[in-house]
Amino acid sequence: MLLQLKNILDPAKLDNIREMLAKVPFIDGKHSAGMAAEQVKNNEEMQQGTQQAQYLDQLVMGSLAENADFRSAALPLRVAQPVFARYTPGMRYGNHVDDPIMGGGMEKFRTDVAITVFLNAPQDYDGGELVIQSPFGEQRVKYAAGDAVLYPANSVHRVEEVSRGERLVAVIWLQSMVRDAAQRELLFELDQARNTLLQRDAQDLTAQQVDRAYVNLIRRWSDV
Ligand code: NI
Repeated sequence: MLLQLKNILDPAKLDNIREMLAKVPFIDGKHSAGMAAEQVKNNEEMQQGTQQAQYLDQLVMGSLAENADFRSAALPLRVAQPVFARYTPGMRYGNHVDDPIMGGGMEKFRTDVAITVFLNAPQDYDGGELVIQSPFGEQRVKYAAGDAVLYPANSVHRVEEVSRGERLVAVIWLQSMVRDAAQRELLFELDQARNTLLQRDAQDLTAQQVDRAYVNLIRRWSDV
């Protein structure tokens, strides 16, 4: 499932983020790529570990965590620090799958879900589409500033070459409570139905049955 998450970041937060990103150091993105991905990766990433990086991490992750569709679709268990990436003209990231395991030492986690948050407007740059291969063909994604796309991290994907302007994104990987993408998709749909029914009438027997089925499926399928 490829899901658009709208308005993760409001215009004030976006301004704040872009202003900070214009001042902080960026380094060659190859440092964080796996061996196969390194061959095709050409972008820049904000240096991690600075005070500004910590502030930006909290800003983006805090906003994402407030989004109900994000929580329902991702069922997050462990979440990585976001990577802030910049593509200027000539930069691209060829077809690849992301690393299966991220984090170091005791902080290792499996990457089940990937999220790209768009930090500037699509009119600000030419090219730079995120192209995700799916069973229904290639999906080309270039959303408004503040919107995000959520997709299974095992999908083959690429970023088309930027030919004008600058593409700014935050990329987040997480381990889900539910490893299997098809199960996550079923749970997401069922959760939508459950919420509609509970809002209509929380005492209704059908609403309660759907609610219990959802909760018990989480119990059955989560590997927490
Ligand atoms: Ni990737």
